[in-house]
Amino acid sequence: MICDNLSVSDTGRLQMADRPVTDLIRQYGSPLYLMDEERIRYNVRQYVSALKETFGESAMMLYASKACSFKEMYRIMKEENAGVDVVSAGEIYTAVSAGFPMDKVYFHGNNKTDDEIAFALDHGVGYFVVDSREELRVINEFAGKQGVSQKILLRITPGIDTHTYEAVATGQVDSKFGNAIETGLAEEITKEALNLPNVRLSGFHCHVGSQVFDSDTFIRAADILLTYIADIREKYGYEAEELDLGGGYGVRYLESDPTLDIKANIAEVGQKVFDKCRELSLKVPAIRMEPGRSIVADAGMTLYTVGSVKRIPGYKTYVSVDGGMSDNPRYALYEAPYTVVCADKMKEDATLLTSVVGKCCESGDVLQEKVMLPDSVCRGDIVAVLTTGAYNYSMASHYNRIPKLPVVMLGKTGERVVVARETVEDVARFDR
Ligand code: LLP
Repeated sequence: MICDNLSVSDTGRLQMADRPVTDLIRQYGSPLYLMDEERIRYNVRQYVSALKETFGESAMMLYASKACSFKEMYRIMKEENAGVDVVSAGEIYTAVSAGFPMDKVYFHGNNKTDDEIAFALDHGVGYFVVDSREELRVINEFAGKQGVSQKILLRITPGIDTHTYEAVATGQVDSKFGNAIETGLAEEITKEALNLPNVRLSGFHCHVGSQVFDSDTFIRAADILLTYIADIREKYGYEAEELDLGGGYGVRYLESDPTLDIKANIAEVGQKVFDKCRELSLKVPAIRMEPGRSIVADAGMTLYTVGSVKRIPGYKTYVSVDGGMSDNPRYALYEAPYTVVCADKMKEDATLLTSVVGKCCESGDVLQEKVMLPDSVCRGDIVAVLTTGAYNYSMASHYNRIPKLPVVMLGKTGERVVVARETVEDVARFDR
């Protein structure tokens, strides 16, 4: 199947990590997010070992926790010796509560508020990835009051268009993120950072986009950033110690998507970094990469129960399920593709063309168009949307006051609820 942690039982039921998912939904209720712990760990290990093999011990993988953030994720990352990327006080708090070592936390975001900056400093966040001059000055001021020298990276915009979908492209000059080299902004903020007493510039960061399948994007980014590092050394006598190349490696949502060989990709990027550093007589900086999607996406699946099958002769057939854009807004936002199957009828031929839709009160609440399901699909059947581990739970909302789904983590043996199911009382909890 699309990922090798998925299989079909003799009785035609979908299995994740060798467990029939129809049993799990009966036990934990519907709808439900499932996550496969071994798959998460496998994905992390791929990166951690590839980075170490290519760049040596100084390299570090940072899990971009915006892809899926709850306490258990930070516990797993701690055990796997990865760092994490956070983007809000909420993610910092979750990491702190899970006992994650704060010196391995990188705080991103294009508009960190004063409160968030103070919160991060109070909790000893290792690095701020600084996006603007306003932010730089506030960090310097607050760090000064605390008598600390705060380590920072500066977010640089390399001026690369990744040809991914617009909402996730960030490398181009007019991006809301970072400071473009081309406009001179990068150099100005670098100069200022070097002159401030309470920040210590460790190096530079860039992130060019998401769902990227080729190493070429990272190679171009590395080339541009290393040239920039050499230029800054020439002008200001400062040589960066760290280079963070961001996240963005793609995952398979459909059978037709390519399979990515992370190890080979990182080795190719490494070749470029070594060649370029030699050419510019630079010391190879400590490399960071920040995968989010490719750590969790294929470790996740969402299970729903079918409520109705509405056949509109001559038009289309709607299969309505008990979740929707409130637990997965990605089709509504990006027309994101997914593989959708009938989890209890895997051995039946899928001959019925359907639109799988949610229960929210709007026509845009679609999980996927053009889904082939068995003709017998009916109320009570279990529909699985695959590869939902990234940007589903983390982007869920309470639209229509629908409680958020629980997350059940499938461990090596047995499974555990790592996020509890919300109730309608939870949804109304803050109303006064
Ligand atoms: N680093 C930075 C600075 C980022 O902005 C991101 C993603 C990542 C790393 C991780 O990228 P990944 O490896 O996950 O592609 N909500 C969208 C994705 C937004 C990505 C935002 N930044 C979606 O559902 O596709």
